[in-house]
Amino acid sequence: MLSIRTVELRGKRIEITDAKRAAILEEMPEIAWIQDEVLRTGVTDAWVAAIHSSSLKRIGDMKPSGNYDPKPMKSASQADHMRSVTRLAVKIAEEMTSLFPAMKVNRDLLIAGCLCHDIGKVWEFDPENVRRWRAEPRKTGKPSLRHPGYGIHICLTMGLPEEVAHMAAAHSGEGELLIRSLENTILHWADYTFWMVVDAGGQLDDEDAWLEGELAARSGRPAP
Ligand SMILES: [Fe+2]
Repeated sequence: MLSIRTVELRGKRIEITDAKRAAILEEMPEIAWIQDEVLRTGVTDAWVAAIHSSSLKRIGDMKPSGNYDPKPMKSASQADHMRSVTRLAVKIAEEMTSLFPAMKVNRDLLIAGCLCHDIGKVWEFDPENVRRWRAEPRKTGKPSLRHPGYGIHICLTMGLPEEVAHMAAAHSGEGELLIRSLENTILHWADYTFWMVVDAGGQLDDEDAWLEGELAARSGRPAP
């Protein structure tokens, strides 16, 4: 049993309890792969805070896509995406370090960064935010912040290491403006591999009920 932690995020006071931690672990069991207890708890707590500061109930409530507008996956969730990217990244690291023993990959940071890389989607993919941005894109931007930007906010607010914040911040296009760490380079290619193979393998849906749901909600009809 861990102690209850109270944090403030997005103007909300969030109590991080063992029950909320257990719900996150159930969605992303690979968190248990992190050997360092402080880092493992930090990743879990960051996700509890991220979800409970949004209008979402769970990670799987987010549209399962790379950015908000593209077509969603047919059958997997956003949690499945992060779990799969984590497993891919660990396999890449194992392969490359077996070939190059002098190459040192920090496995704990790799797993933590992979599991947190899209944590900022709780902002970019929050239906309440999407609705606002679509209604008035020139007011605060559309989106106002991409998930890497909001990911930095969560990681640093929740006290996660700089290396993990860097992976959330720069796994995507933003990383073209800096030099990615070794762990982030592995994450970047695992993430891109995931989405490109999903697309090539015909696993993106032809219909986007999530996007239509937003439009339906704006016109006053119930979202599916
Ligand atoms: Fe991703």
